[in-house]
Amino acid sequence: MSIDFLILNQIKKLETEAEYYEKKGEKDKAYEVYEKIANLYEKAASKALLQSTRELYLMKAEEYRSRINTTKEKINGDEPDYIQIAKSMIEKTNLTWDDISGLEKIKSLLRQAVGIAISKPEKPVKLDPPRSILLFGPPGTGKTLLASAASNSINATFFNADISKILSRYVGDSPKTIDALFLLARKMSPSIIFFDEFDAISLNREEKENIGTGLIQKILTEMDGFRKSRDFVMVIASTNRPWALDEAILNRFDYRVYVPLPDFEARKGIFEIELGKKNFEIEADYDDLAKRTEGYSGREISHICRKAIMSMIKRMNPDIENARPGYKLRIGKITKEELYKAIEETKPSVSKEMIKKYEEWGREYGSE
Ligand SMILES: Nc1ncnc2c1ncn2[C@@H]1O[C@H](COP(=O)(O)OP(=O)(O)O)[C@@H](O)[C@H]1O
Ligand SMILES: [Mg+2]
Repeated sequence: MSIDFLILNQIKKLETEAEYYEKKGEKDKAYEVYEKIANLYEKAASKALLQSTRELYLMKAEEYRSRINTTKEKINGDEPDYIQIAKSMIEKTNLTWDDISGLEKIKSLLRQAVGIAISKPEKPVKLDPPRSILLFGPPGTGKTLLASAASNSINATFFNADISKILSRYVGDSPKTIDALFLLARKMSPSIIFFDEFDAISLNREEKENIGTGLIQKILTEMDGFRKSRDFVMVIASTNRPWALDEAILNRFDYRVYVPLPDFEARKGIFEIELGKKNFEIEADYDDLAKRTEGYSGREISHICRKAIMSMIKRMNPDIENARPGYKLRIGKITKEELYKAIEETKPSVSKEMIKKYEEWGREYGSE
């Protein structure tokens, strides 16, 4: 076996190693490996018999050296970009508690938490108000709404940080994005960081080893760190798949709260928010609509309302498709049929088995 061959084999292994570090975002370790690769190519060049092979190896060595330099520059030049990414997650919200129907206990918990955060104790006591809350439950039940309202109620900076987006867009750099996110949140305190699709941090085992772990570790460290900080940063995480989360992560949350499908009163309230409060008149009565939508999520009810409104608009304005600017839009009462049809056409997506699964999980891991 030629010496070349042994060296080239070694290089191959190192290349895989470097790639692994790049993915994990550990650039410094990747540089070290690049340095080794460059040295090995030089060694191979010195032993090469053919002039052309020697030149090829030297070129390779050069390529790896320059890679170290350009990535180093890129990293330094890139630093402010993480802050830019974090900044792009800031959302302005004007949602109030009244825009959320039902969920009284959760609203009260959040109101207390943010209430304490903005008050000044009359005596220097050591307060430790809840700063991390995990909201779990079926999709479309108001988890995002709750986080927005909590934020708006104290005029906090609201960061809408979708974990699956952070992972897919900034793969190896996701821990750095998290770093910047918390840094900015502290700077712009009071802040609320909303981690949507939080379960995305527990991908499958293989991916987890590469990327997820760094991210989880980062988030957990930040969550531990901010307890001691005087700046108010609250983490509200949301998940439809709480069972995908490790206990180690679950334990870090002060509260784990179930956000269920809306009950009768809550459904009635959502119809009122989507119709009555928007000045639409209906021929049906709200109790009747709530009764007919058992098992529907808030999002589905909101969808039903929009559908019924569109039907009324089409009925009242058959010529709407040829409308010109200034067209006078006629608004009539929304009929029972229009509402029933919209309900009929919208199928509830959360099964009874699913609800059972949430409830069981909640009994084991949820907070009272
Ligand atoms: N309790 C609720 N009160 C009023 N609207 C609701 C409620 N729950 C859901 N909705 C409607 O459904 C939409 C989606 O809610 P969202 O908070 O995004 O759900 P998720 O739990 O998936 O975060 C909202 O924009 C709103 O129109
Ligand atoms: Mg949501």
